[in-house]
Amino acid sequence: LISQALRNHLIIPSWGEFCLKIRDIFEECRGINGGTVATYIPQLARCDPNLWGVSICTIDGQRVSFGDSKVNFCIQSVSKAFNYAIVASDLGAEKVHSYVGHEPSGRLFNEICLDPNGKPHNPMINAGAIIVTSLIKNGLTMADRFDFVLKEYRKLSGGEFVGFNNSVFLSERDTADRNYALSYYMKENKCFPDGIRSLREELDLYFQLCSIEASCETLAVMAATLANGGVCPLTEERCISPQPCRDVLSLMYSCGMYDLSGKFAFQVGLPAKSGVSGVLIVVVPNLMGIALYSPPLDKMGNSMRGVEFCKKLIESFNFHNY
Ligand code: DON
Repeated sequence: LISQALRNHLIIPSWGEFCLKIRDIFEECRGINGGTVATYIPQLARCDPNLWGVSICTIDGQRVSFGDSKVNFCIQSVSKAFNYAIVASDLGAEKVHSYVGHEPSGRLFNEICLDPNGKPHNPMINAGAIIVTSLIKNGLTMADRFDFVLKEYRKLSGGEFVGFNNSVFLSERDTADRNYALSYYMKENKCFPDGIRSLREELDLYFQLCSIEASCETLAVMAATLANGGVCPLTEERCISPQPCRDVLSLMYSCGMYDLSGKFAFQVGLPAKSGVSGVLIVVVPNLMGIALYSPPLDKMGNSMRGVEFCKKLIESFNFHNY
């Protein structure tokens, strides 16, 4: 990085100026009030609504953070994007998509519904994510499956801290009637691959992956790995094969922001994935990964400050895809 900087070959040459602008946008968004912290999982309901963090990592490893960027939180549905990329790298997109579609559902993230082919609509909603999870190394023990994913996450983050929040996991499992109903409905409709374990075990793995903990700083590196075609900018290790990396960005673009996905693609024009903890990752392909965290959610279930930050970013920088 230093030799690149000396030769003026950095991907964002006027880095100082860029960071100042990001800080201004961050501060403007701090003033946004309203929204509600997710309450359907008791552990999430207790999060501090004032937490607000932003972190950016470029594909050549330049990094900047503001606010509560070191606070660890559970990544919730952001795991859906990484789990898909990991499984598709392992098994190939064709195999994964023989079980799950590519279309936005136009329905709530946890709705009990299938597409016209009798599959979950896409891997970014609960139905699709539960099926994707059931494809993760399903010949191994449950402990080895969890370890496999954790190891992949640590590769994606270049060795930054990735943890696990057991109380979120227990709380999530205790309030999981909808995910059980959804899974039995999918079992009845033969959506799962052959050889899966009990639904209880498969759902445990899904809840465990929602309960993985990371900070904005870690998630920005993971998002930057997606921006960099699947190669971690800190270690230069390939973590995701090129095709699944492109595929996950396409799915994040069309389906990553719940029922705001169409409008977000229209206004912001970047692949993103949100989670009910108030986390949001955004990928600027070939440039950077961004991670935002602020627990209060808007009516659609996306972080209020996070979405506003993205809109303001696009007003200042030419990052929109079109
Ligand atoms: O399955 C659930 O209820 C949640 N833990 C999913 C988390 C989430 O962020 C929803 N997103 N699609």
